[in-house]
Amino acid sequence: MAFSELILHRYSVRAYRSDPIEPEKLNAILEAGRMAPTACNRQAFGLIIARPGVDPEAFQQLYHRELMLLAPYLICICTLPEQAWKNIESKNYADVDAAIVLDHMVLQAAELGLGTCIIADFNPPVARELFELPKGVEPVLMFSLGYPADQLKPKIRKSLDSLVHKDRW
Ligand SMILES: Cc1cc2nc3c(=O)[nH]c(=O)nc-3n(C[C@H](O)[C@H](O)[C@H](O)COP(=O)(O)O)c2cc1C
Repeated sequence: MAFSELILHRYSVRAYRSDPIEPEKLNAILEAGRMAPTACNRQAFGLIIARPGVDPEAFQQLYHRELMLLAPYLICICTLPEQAWKNIESKNYADVDAAIVLDHMVLQAAELGLGTCIIADFNPPVARELFELPKGVEPVLMFSLGYPADQLKPKIRKSLDSLVHKDRW
């Protein structure tokens, strides 16, 4: 699939089939994350692959909506902010790195016919406990992963004119 088609084809999948994911597809998605660029190539992140179905009650605490429980997999992107690059104003780019890693994986999943939904609205203390995160490791983003059981919805986006400023804001 051409990249221009892929970005239109990806959408937030909120219903999943229970079919298992082929190990080579899962590996390709993780590889896409590994190949993502990070600021100064610090690679200050780690990935947790979890199966919500193993402990539905715990995952319901992690995220209140049902979608996570329906997906066969959940991938959590964690950062190590102390190892991440900072700019001259001390802005830490760990979260930006995490978003790029996630986007690589989500688009790779879409190319392989898999569905994802990015999740930021999870409970961080629950994530720290559930995934036994050591000090200095921060859960930043997650996405559910599985074969879609719903349909592509129309994309609602601002116009390019309202987003792009020529030469100055
Ligand atoms: C950083 C980020 C956080 C998000 N967090 C959630 C979330 O917690 N729960 C959810 O259902 N969707 C979440 N989404 C999905 C967005 O709502 C969705 O991408 C947006 O409405 C556009 O729809 P589309 O993905 O189908 O194109 C998140 C998306 C992004 C980029």
